[in-house]
Amino acid sequence: MARKRRGEGQTALVTGASAGIGVDLAECFARDGYNLVLAARSEAALKEVAERLSLKYAIAATPIALDLTEHGAGRKLADAIAAKGLSVDVLVNNAGYGIAGGFDGSSEADQLGMIDLNVRALVELTHIYWPAMLKNNRGGVLNVASTAAFQPGPLMAVYYASKAFVLSFSEALWKEAEGSAVHVSCLCPGPTSSKFRERAGTGRTRLSRMGTPMPSMTVARMGYRAFQNNRRVLVTGMRNRLIAGLARFLPRKTLLATVYNIQSPAAPEA
Ligand SMILES: NC(=O)c1ccc[n+]([C@@H]2O[C@H](COP(=O)([O-])OP(=O)(O)OC[C@H]3O[C@@H](n4cnc5c(N)ncnc54)[C@H](OP(=O)(O)O)[C@@H]3O)[C@@H](O)[C@H]2O)c1
Repeated sequence: MARKRRGEGQTALVTGASAGIGVDLAECFARDGYNLVLAARSEAALKEVAERLSLKYAIAATPIALDLTEHGAGRKLADAIAAKGLSVDVLVNNAGYGIAGGFDGSSEADQLGMIDLNVRALVELTHIYWPAMLKNNRGGVLNVASTAAFQPGPLMAVYYASKAFVLSFSEALWKEAEGSAVHVSCLCPGPTSSKFRERAGTGRTRLSRMGTPMPSMTVARMGYRAFQNNRRVLVTGMRNRLIAGLARFLPRKTLLATVYNIQSPAAPEA
């Protein structure tokens, strides 16, 4: 008789599942038998991911296209999920974007959009699904923050601040769920191969010249394992752990100067 997979009978909602880390996180859950609800704006890409994963892993995958920066989008998504007769056991808050550059001269829509997506939609969705998780004593929340969460980020100020929020919020919920079977993990990747850099414009910074980005599937696997082990915070890879750890020891002014430096434009390559 085939062995029962860990996620059978459960559904994971993955936001930002049309590209990058979200696609690979969705695949990790599918491999373990979770049914999926996949959300992002790009309908065609979501459908392609849903078809591929449902065939490969014999699970049900439902794509729902919407813009999560719109106020009330979390509720709209939850209503669409409920209308299909589905419930959510695991919430993976992965959708997010960053914009590199000084705050002066930045677009107000871009800056507020980061807060709406990286913070507001994440809190809204968690607030919707959290009570049932606690009541059912199963499932949980996997939030995707960043190594940016560990210090302020001059030249990418709102993005870093949004990820600091995600880390703080996740750790607090981890504590609130302690003693139950509900898991909460915060995945903090460093530079990772995805479309993130293209949208953020971080390809021109000194940071982008410092080493090779990690493959998104490696990052997703680490995040998935961390969630299953109810690991509170997972920073991907030794190098990123060292960098994130430095924030605790460096004098604040030195830390700010270091981040400013690595977020500054690099000299053109010869
Ligand atoms: N890549 C990195 O170096 C890195 C490092 C640390 C942390 N992270 C974090 O990892 C997470 C995933 O990013 P990624 O690297 O996989 O980037 P990505 O390839 O750009 O993927 C981002 C995902 O978010 C979705 N998304 C963007 N805007 C959205 C909106 N308004 N409404 C709904 N969905 C939206 C995108 O889909 P649509 O465009 O179809 O909407 C896409 O599926 C983010 O939270 C990011 O901050 C990334």
